[in-house]
Amino acid sequence: MSPRRTLPLSPAVTAWLQKCRWACGEKCFTESCNHSENPTFEAILAQRVSRRTALRGVAGVALVLALGQASLSHTEASSRGRLTFRPIRLNSDDRVTVPEGYGTTVVIRWGDPLESWGPEFRVDAQSPEAQAHQFGYNADFVGLFPLPLLTNNPNRGLLAVNHEYTNPELMFPNYRQGDPEPWQVAVELEAHGVTIVEITQRGRGNWVYLRGSRYNRRITATTRCELTGPAAGSDWLKTSADPTGTVVLGTLNNCAGGKTPWGTLLTCEENFHQYFGNLDALDSTDPRVAVHKRYGIPAGKSERVWERFDRRFDVTREPNEPFRFGWVVEIDPYDPTFVPKKRTALGRFKHEAATVVINRDGRVVVYSGDDERFEYVYKFVSDGRFNPNNRQANLTLLDRGTLYVARFNPDGTGDWLPLVYGEGPLTEANGFTSQADVLINTRRAADLLGATKMDRPEDIETNPVNGRVYVVCTNNTRRNWNQIDPANPRGNNRHGHIIELIEADGDYTATRFTWEIFLLCGDPANPDDLVFAAGFDPSQISPISCPDNITFDAWGNMWIATDGQSGTFRRNDGIYAVPTSGSERGYVRMFLSGPRGCEICGPEFAPDFQTLFCAIQHPGEGGTFAQPISSWPDGTVPRPSVIATWKTTGDPRIGG
Ligand code: FEO
Ligand code: CA
Ligand code: CA
Repeated sequence: MSPRRTLPLSPAVTAWLQKCRWACGEKCFTESCNHSENPTFEAILAQRVSRRTALRGVAGVALVLALGQASLSHTEASSRGRLTFRPIRLNSDDRVTVPEGYGTTVVIRWGDPLESWGPEFRVDAQSPEAQAHQFGYNADFVGLFPLPLLTNNPNRGLLAVNHEYTNPELMFPNYRQGDPEPWQVAVELEAHGVTIVEITQRGRGNWVYLRGSRYNRRITATTRCELTGPAAGSDWLKTSADPTGTVVLGTLNNCAGGKTPWGTLLTCEENFHQYFGNLDALDSTDPRVAVHKRYGIPAGKSERVWERFDRRFDVTREPNEPFRFGWVVEIDPYDPTFVPKKRTALGRFKHEAATVVINRDGRVVVYSGDDERFEYVYKFVSDGRFNPNNRQANLTLLDRGTLYVARFNPDGTGDWLPLVYGEGPLTEANGFTSQADVLINTRRAADLLGATKMDRPEDIETNPVNGRVYVVCTNNTRRNWNQIDPANPRGNNRHGHIIELIEADGDYTATRFTWEIFLLCGDPANPDDLVFAAGFDPSQISPISCPDNITFDAWGNMWIATDGQSGTFRRNDGIYAVPTSGSERGYVRMFLSGPRGCEICGPEFAPDFQTLFCAIQHPGEGGTFAQPISSWPDGTVPRPSVIATWKTTGDPRIGG
């Protein structure tokens, strides 16, 4: 092993040159090469080299000194937080694999009853009534809220889990694609949403959920929710069932999320477009049509054909219903009577996650990515300030503030562009008559501001040790080599990348930032993948593809969950750990592998960093009920679950 401590991006430049060599024998500099037909490729390469060269100048000295000081102050944390586990290998086993010295257990799985009275899970006797009181399908975000409220108890808490979507072909014995039974659709509606469930650790690693806890709750696609903030009550949010434009039934496609310092859950509505159908029956001159198209509402029938069973999913009959999805939803897990609030100030798009950080002046900043190819990275800055002594007052902080979208400049700087009605192009001339319009049609507003089109922004998280912000771009195979830019530097980006962003002066409310590429994922054994690992010797790292959700431990190590390795590597998805500072910065090691067909979501540490929770989402995807490819976890029908992983020997710290 030979970790490098050289300038971070030099191996990337080498990799780029290798790409030319292997792809075309360095004919890039002749007219016969595809690459030479692409001025962007060479321009970007030149920019990256010149950026590095510039760092050797006066400004570079200042930067190197600053980085040196930063790493000095992090030295202690990074040596204590050293990762010592032996990486596991990619595999195709139908089980969870963890390194030697670790144990893992299922905490809760699809269909597990939340109430003491049941109902018990029976795959052959499902009903919407039962599902409404059972753990939902396709667990995604996992957030642990310690009990009692606002403590750091590592042994008891409320687990908040998203149920992103359903796989009816795996759930039901006789599902007919495109022609479901009404009761199946009703079950699916109840299998979406969120579960709040109390869990406790009864002896090391023995995490169990508590049936009948007064906190246990399901929020589903039929639960009453409220729209709040600047867009609430807008004409475009009114439907025949809700003339006020403030009350919505349910939340859909809850992908990842976040936790607020005042102890609430943010659950994010992502690919909501798929639930609606019949856009093409709307009059094409209706101004709503262009907005629905921008968000991908299907022209004809939807794949799930729910519009056949519930008029609100039929855009012809309820043209405004899709505007009521695509929001960040705040839920107080400690209050089972809390009505979920869709916070419109945070914008409407396909929110992957929502990461909250309190700025040094007390304002609340929320980072969120719009997970679709060529979509954008956003942050929200509250007007009000966090009050550690008034929880109730904090519950309205996300209703007033400024939404920004990111522009990544080629020189390594960046700008946060405000999405404010009346400013710049966001005026009547472009169809915006209010801030509500800007928020409902966030994507169009961001288009007009010239934001940078990214390779599917997934999770965005802040590192508690170095304060930097990490933007995960999962992949984008539709970006061709003519469309690359320094922040999305690979065409046919199958494996995804992670960007490291530093807000100006460490101020999370700043409108300027600098950024670097942290990881270019892929198989280091494949030169075409152009793997770059923050300057670490790529030949030493684990193959990694399609990063999705990340979290950090207390020592600043990044833990990465993946979604897509079954497609790119023909192997199962997993969790990886990588230091962000010190000599092993960029040393990516595979920690956990899921069963067949799943993606891994959530990763979430207990407050003592001795348990790592994660969700096993859609085990067996790719198979059907009749022809399964997985029987995880029980040897029967595959069941999406949350698992806990802990250390069985030595230092109890995960990774240590
Ligand atoms: Fe639901 Fe962006 O993953
Ligand atoms: Ca995700
Ligand atoms: Ca995903």
